[in-house]
Amino acid sequence: MAMNSTLSVIGCGYLGATHAACMSSLGFSVIGVDTDPKKVAMLSRGELPFYEPGLEALLAQEIATGRLTFTSDFSTVADADVHFVCVGTPQSKDGLAADLTYVKSAVSAIAPFLKEGALVVGKSTVPVGTAQSLREQLMQLAPAADLAWNPEFLREGFAIEDTLTPNRLVVGVVNDRAEQILKDVYAPILALGTPWIRADLATAELVKVAANSFLATKISFINAMAEVCEAAGGDITVLAKAIGYDPRIGSRFLQAGIGFGGGCLPKDIRAFMARAEELGAQQAVEFLREIDAINLRARQRVIDVVRTDLSEDLTAYKIAVLGATFKPDSDDVRDSPALDIAMQLHAAGANVVVHDPKGIEPARKRFPDLNFAHSVTDCVKDADLILHLTEWKEYRALDPLVIGNLVKNKMIIDGRNALDRELWRDAGWKFHALGRTN
Ligand code: UDX
Repeated sequence: MAMNSTLSVIGCGYLGATHAACMSSLGFSVIGVDTDPKKVAMLSRGELPFYEPGLEALLAQEIATGRLTFTSDFSTVADADVHFVCVGTPQSKDGLAADLTYVKSAVSAIAPFLKEGALVVGKSTVPVGTAQSLREQLMQLAPAADLAWNPEFLREGFAIEDTLTPNRLVVGVVNDRAEQILKDVYAPILALGTPWIRADLATAELVKVAANSFLATKISFINAMAEVCEAAGGDITVLAKAIGYDPRIGSRFLQAGIGFGGGCLPKDIRAFMARAEELGAQQAVEFLREIDAINLRARQRVIDVVRTDLSEDLTAYKIAVLGATFKPDSDDVRDSPALDIAMQLHAAGANVVVHDPKGIEPARKRFPDLNFAHSVTDCVKDADLILHLTEWKEYRALDPLVIGNLVKNKMIIDGRNALDRELWRDAGWKFHALGRTN
């Protein structure tokens, strides 16, 4: 496929906007299509509707080349040879399963405009079997087109890096032609030595949910060990370091704390359980129920420590919460453990004030009743307790002596095991962390 070929990207959220800008940076002409005209207008101006390091600059740069455009008009995709479907698959309102409305409507919306030989490439995370049924749907609507699946493993905060230098490319295809088209699209990435894995449609879909299930399991494993450390008088940070030296285990994703959140891991493991049950394989992934439960329990454990440190009745206390996003370097508050904890303490009557470097507006939209502060100083002023819940770099750089002069009570709980405990203790703070008893 020549570099002057045209690609379309259907759905311009986190995944789609990143993919569109990155593919344009490889030299393709890219048409981003989204049904939300507000999003299209923003992206066309080179503005991102969310925060992702480096992406706004890349977006503006690519728009300036004239290769990257955004529209709500599906008919414009008629010129494209390859169409990446990047729409969301959120958890359904009435259960654990993924809501496939957007993927299905994306495929039927582009079908009338597909040219002969066009390849539709699903990137959204979907329950296994979806690609096959979408392919059948497409064969009815546009018999001259084909469909492949190409799961995406991008992490928020590293979206560009994960797209342009991924640790592998996985393609689910039904024939050699589809594989060759994708090899041509990704030629510059393959040239870097990136491993290429050809799979059938079902395996490609499963790779994504299996990877996310494994990552979720690693986090819940270490949080379960943190619970045991608390019961037995151990230190989870030392334990994690010690087991992580075994290369079979590895040290990454063993950071104990308030657990995982975001738009992917929680919903993906739940959708996997729902799909496995439909397939009669529920026993095989039954452990994911426990992974989910351990994860949610971590939030409760922080609240228990707060009650032990302050009192059962929280109404007289000001609690300063540092962090609202589900992880640093993101403004994403979807299923954020930090925000969930803040909300629960607020509901229990505490005077909760939340700070976050990037997430205040999205958090306020979700929970308008919460109080927010735009500076750490305002947030912690006269606080009875500080909760450190998202490990932004700027929180790690805080000077406990300076903060100590602002609060009412020098007490802090580190929900992410990311602060320097000795530094805070030396400055006279009572310092608690999940999974560390001494
Ligand atoms: C995840 C997968 O990593 C990515 O490959 C997939 O494409 C989408 O889902 P993301 O949601 O951006 O990416 O976040 P990730 O970096 O995986 O973190 C998920 C959550 O786990 C965060 O809330 C983070 O704080 C938490 N986490 C991570 C821990 O609690 N401990 C750890 O050791 C690692």
